[in-house]
Amino acid sequence: MQSDSNILQVNNLSKFFGGLKAISNCSLKVKKGSITGIIGPNGSGKTTLFNLIAGNLKPNKGSVYFDNEDITGIPSYELFSKGILRTFQIAHEFTNLTVLENLMMVPGGQSGELLVNALFKPRLVNEEEKKIKQKALEVIKFLNLTHLEKELAGNLSGGQKKLLELGRTMMVDAKIVLLDEVGAGVNRTLLKDIGSAILRLNKEKGYTFFMIEHDMDFISRLCDPVIVLAEGSVLFEGTSNEVKKNERVIESYLGRGSKLKNGN
Ligand SMILES: Nc1ncnc2c1ncn2[C@@H]1O[C@H](COP(=O)(O)OP(=O)(O)OP(=O)(O)O)[C@@H](O)[C@H]1O
Ligand SMILES: [Mg+2]
Repeated sequence: MQSDSNILQVNNLSKFFGGLKAISNCSLKVKKGSITGIIGPNGSGKTTLFNLIAGNLKPNKGSVYFDNEDITGIPSYELFSKGILRTFQIAHEFTNLTVLENLMMVPGGQSGELLVNALFKPRLVNEEEKKIKQKALEVIKFLNLTHLEKELAGNLSGGQKKLLELGRTMMVDAKIVLLDEVGAGVNRTLLKDIGSAILRLNKEKGYTFFMIEHDMDFISRLCDPVIVLAEGSVLFEGTSNEVKKNERVIESYLGRGSKLKNGN
């Protein structure tokens, strides 16, 4: 589901941490309907870039546009309601709640959050809760997690937690989902499930994905194009095959002592 219009545009973005330039004059575009990958050696600024786009950090310089609107510096909860969702490099589920309850916790402007509604319009709150539960059950089914619906999230495997993170993005109407290493530490079988869920969300629900990954097999299966970040700015952009062959890309990985990882 590719189109020519860009859903996201990053212009000359910079972020300093003291004397360290984590993001340095970085510019890139993400096409609406694409699954765009972003790779780069450890410490090249990938997570910082996502923090800047999703409103978890404010840039020192530059701008971010989403659907042609300047969203630079807007906090994450406001961007969330505009349809910009993200997952974190380290999954942060509520360990003492079940899978179902975790999904039902995703904020979506429920009436029950307003005390006045809970006190004076209990029926409204009840009906909304029913709808949210229904939605959560659909998400659980979509992700093949039905057998784990009542399991405490703290008991899930690393890979299942990543699927739950993905599920959280499905509880509201996302336009773009930023995935920070959703495949890291996940076994091959579950990685396939996560990949299939991403492809289905892209095709069936029109989600645009912008995803940080290290595993080149996973990236090759899902992403076009792939952007390579090095020292806080874009080094290269192309198909996964072009990326794998590019001398400058290989050099940037070797220089940092980290490798372009292939699955096994
Ligand atoms: N909050 C912070 N305070 C100070 N320095 C930071 C902070 N966040 C990131 N950095 C530094 O900024 C640089 C970029 O870090 P970032 O986490 O964005 O890299 P990354 O590409 O996501 O790396 P990885 O592949 O290991 O996840 C690193 O040198 C990191 O140590
Ligand atoms: Mg990171």
